[in-house]
Amino acid sequence: MFLKPLVLAALCAAAFAQQPAVPAAPAGEKLAPYYPTPDIIVDRMLALGELRAGESMFDLGSGDGRIVVMAARKYHADATGVELDQDLVRQSSAKLRSLGLTGTARIIYGDILKQNYAAANLITVYLLPESNLRVQPMLEAQLKKGARVVAHDFPIGNWVPAKTVTIPDDGEGRSHTLYLYIR
Ligand SMILES: C[S@@+](CC[C@H](N)C(=O)[O-])C[C@H]1O[C@@H](n2cnc3c(N)ncnc32)[C@H](O)[C@@H]1O
Repeated sequence: MFLKPLVLAALCAAAFAQQPAVPAAPAGEKLAPYYPTPDIIVDRMLALGELRAGESMFDLGSGDGRIVVMAARKYHADATGVELDQDLVRQSSAKLRSLGLTGTARIIYGDILKQNYAAANLITVYLLPESNLRVQPMLEAQLKKGARVVAHDFPIGNWVPAKTVTIPDDGEGRSHTLYLYIR
């Protein structure tokens, strides 16, 4: 009889050992607060970046995942978001699952400055101006020739844009400027 609790304890220990580890929060510096891009501007960013079907795109600081979703759904690209905020990662990953986009889109729970963007055809960024300066050398080192970068509202350091587009009204009275860079 006294064997029963021992067997139970052994089973519990085995089950516990098989639990997946809870991922640790990634260390990283907040490069911008969460401030979403209106959908109409998301579309303009992806069109300006000439995103084509099957191309690889990354949104650096993907928030609720709206750029990743549109890149995968409307432009049929392979889309990756990188996000440091755990709630936003949960929310955006759930959105990808509910839309059936997990085959071509994903969110990395991690720091923008610790990823590899060598495969990217297009990068989108909506970060603070001083954060764009942090991202700039990393993109210079990693991006392949011909890769495009579209920055929302804040230019990237001393890069010379191939095109600058201002959208005077997003439908809610706000103006937006987009910068296209080609490496
Ligand atoms: C201005 S919001 C832009 C969100 C989205 N790209 C959009 O345009 O709708 C910036 C996002 O970057 C995320 N972020 C800030 N620093 C980060 C870092 N070091 N690594 C990953 N994400 C970061 C924030 O949590 C926030 O969601």
